[in-house]
Amino acid sequence: MCGIVGAVAQRDIAEILVDGLHRLEYRGYDSAGIAVLNLDKQMQIVRRVGKVKALDEALDANPLLGGTGIAHTRWATHGEPSETNAHPHRSGNIAVVHNGIIENYEELRSELQARGYPFQSQTDTEVIAHLVEWELRSAKSLLEAVQKAVVQLRGAYGTVVMNQAEPEHLIVARSGSPLVIGLGMGENFLASDPLALLNVTRRFIYLEEGDVAEITRRSVDIFDRSGVKVVREIHEGNFEQDAADKGQYRHYMQKEIFEQPVAIRNTLEGRITNDKVVVDAIGANAAQILKDAQHIQIVACGTSYNAGMVARYWFESIAGVSCDVEIASEFRYRKFVTRPNSLLITLSQSGETADTLAALRLAKESGFMAAMTICNVASSSLVRESDFAFMTKAGVEIGVASTKAFTTQLTCLLLLNVAIGRLKGNLSEEQEKHIVQSLQRLPAQIESTLVFDKAIEKLSEDFADKHHTLFLGRGEFYPIAMESALKLKEISYIHAEAYAAGELKHGPLALIDSDMPVIVVAPENDLLEKVKSNIEEVRARGGQLYVFADHDAGFSDSEGFKTIVMPKVDEVTAPIFYTVPLQLLSYHIALIKGTDVDQPRNLAKAVTVE
Ligand code: AGP
Ligand code: GLU
Repeated sequence: MCGIVGAVAQRDIAEILVDGLHRLEYRGYDSAGIAVLNLDKQMQIVRRVGKVKALDEALDANPLLGGTGIAHTRWATHGEPSETNAHPHRSGNIAVVHNGIIENYEELRSELQARGYPFQSQTDTEVIAHLVEWELRSAKSLLEAVQKAVVQLRGAYGTVVMNQAEPEHLIVARSGSPLVIGLGMGENFLASDPLALLNVTRRFIYLEEGDVAEITRRSVDIFDRSGVKVVREIHEGNFEQDAADKGQYRHYMQKEIFEQPVAIRNTLEGRITNDKVVVDAIGANAAQILKDAQHIQIVACGTSYNAGMVARYWFESIAGVSCDVEIASEFRYRKFVTRPNSLLITLSQSGETADTLAALRLAKESGFMAAMTICNVASSSLVRESDFAFMTKAGVEIGVASTKAFTTQLTCLLLLNVAIGRLKGNLSEEQEKHIVQSLQRLPAQIESTLVFDKAIEKLSEDFADKHHTLFLGRGEFYPIAMESALKLKEISYIHAEAYAAGELKHGPLALIDSDMPVIVVAPENDLLEKVKSNIEEVRARGGQLYVFADHDAGFSDSEGFKTIVMPKVDEVTAPIFYTVPLQLLSYHIALIKGTDVDQPRNLAKAVTVE
């Protein structure tokens, strides 16, 4: 779930490992730890609750010297965040770090306890350490012991094992949790995300499901799930140098909000020519599938789900194809009927979200015509396991609260709609041209919104003492209200709910009083008159209204009624456009609240456990 870094080198590696952990901090975690083998083949372990900085300080006071080591940031799933539960976990000569969940840990724990292993922690991870220690007693090498141990594990893991008796060796195993090997000169590294290793290498091997690898200073040997030695491709990383650098910004989230014009431009690049969407850019051989698709099933979580909810309106109005959207954790556990010629689309920033990945795997056995993903990480599991992938080009997103990944997902979804609409003959050349040109205008329009930052900062003061907020919208702006409410609760911890504005009178209206801020997205469009009626329902009950609209919508400020007047943009891209000021509002409210904007409490960037 969180961060793993490891190294086998001839130099002292503690600093490299901790630097790697710092680079992965954005994922959210609650404790950190490191184990290093020193020259006397002694294992030294340091663990701390809280930030990696605490580990830094401990190592400043007592440096760990040695060239073989593993480090981890933990996002607790089994057992509270504490020093004893932090990784690495130890059993005899063995130390282990692990991302993910071992589902059969209780069973294994009982067996291992019966064999005399004492358990120190409440984690599921500790069973891996004891199990490897047990297998090592009868195995020829650590590699063999790990191979024998992992086949007994059920669940999701990315794990690294170190043996005090075999210095300069690390064994890694991947099943459900990503791991990458970083190749150096006379030294090798590994991590759960290549970002962690950018200071030491740009050459990576991505492990595949079921792989176990042995890493030494001079060699990397990989074995697939049946134990056969395999060669995996080496990727030369073309990473943005400064992705992990906040530059002039105070927070990654702020940086990522401001990067949206560039991210959308990059996402459009190569996908449009002569006012037309380039269908081949959506995926090799995608055209026939998109043409034949009679139904779209979108599956995603969180912000990506909200993007799917916006796209549902588009699929039925632009592409002319029916569309359902479902939360992955629900979809994967219910009995569903697959419609004829149904195309599955997963949406994900990380491409590693456990529920979404499980839904994809399930769908592959359930008669869907094909599975595509719209994703931001090219090396991710979702991309590798889908029939084709349409990449968002948002660049690395570090803030836990997703911003530029959402708006680039919407950009891809709109391009996809145009492609399907044309292939099915549901969209005229003129209509295609209009949407394509609206998309091309969008980055500059978003740039012009960012100048509202100061005004929105001022507005955020009104929310400093609020405990609840309602967001309202109609049509595509309903899911934009959902996304805005999710952003606000994630980073400011203010309770926020979104409603389709027409639903207000069916219950939530009871919540309205002079203490309830109600944020409405209401640009001029066909539904505006309906939204205006809903606004009046709130006003009549003393609710505090904050209305994001354009000039043509005709709102003006009055007692208990503030308007934020945005430039006029094309109707089709307006949902993407209005997302941005609302992201800024959540950001500024969180600043006033003094919360940890980039790493909100209890949350993780890539949710690789269910
Ligand atoms: C977004 O702000 C959230 N942190 C979260 O809802 C996220 O969108 C969700 O976990 C899905 O992640 P994914 O896009 O990487 O699959
Ligand atoms: N399940 C393990 C634990 O709770 C690993 C958590 C993680 O992925 O960080 O310790």
